[in-house]
Amino acid sequence: MKNIVLIGFMGTGKTAVGRRLAYRLRRAFIDTDAEIEAVTGKTVSQIFARDGAVRFRSEEALLVKKLAVREDLVISTGGGLALNPENVRLLKEKGILIALTASPEVVHSRLFRKKNRPLLLKGDLRQRIEQLLEERADAYGVADFFVDTGVGSIDEAVEQILLYLSERKEIR
Ligand code: S3P
Repeated sequence: MKNIVLIGFMGTGKTAVGRRLAYRLRRAFIDTDAEIEAVTGKTVSQIFARDGAVRFRSEEALLVKKLAVREDLVISTGGGLALNPENVRLLKEKGILIALTASPEVVHSRLFRKKNRPLLLKGDLRQRIEQLLEERADAYGVADFFVDTGVGSIDEAVEQILLYLSERKEIR
């Protein structure tokens, strides 16, 4: 069956929701950031600092090419992966895209202690989140279904996704 691909901004819960969704569907779970770290032997922060953003984006694009031909996966993507239209095109061929959303306040409260988001290290965190969310609104808008993770628990987000998928007969 089709891959289920979670897209959305940093701190919207893609990894937590994806892992739980995969467990519920008894599917393999892939987190693109973790996969890139495993393949390169470096953390995402190290790749950004040592090799630059362009290199990270090309690692993402390479991984998408490999994943897009597979089936039955739950894939949680890094927050910038859906900015590349070619990534979206490939993932949509055999997948359903689900965008997780959250308000700037919620994202801020989830990320303000974290030091592992290279794009959020400079300047005022709150302003940076708002700016990037605005810049990226269209990119995340390509999803087939949207779930606001700011209002309920991880399990509730998973239930909403399962309901959507079963109504569309995308899961058995
Ligand atoms: C990024 C999001 C991060 C990670 C990298 C870049 C982005 O993933 O891929 O720091 O551009 O939004 P998460 O969305 O899992 O935090």
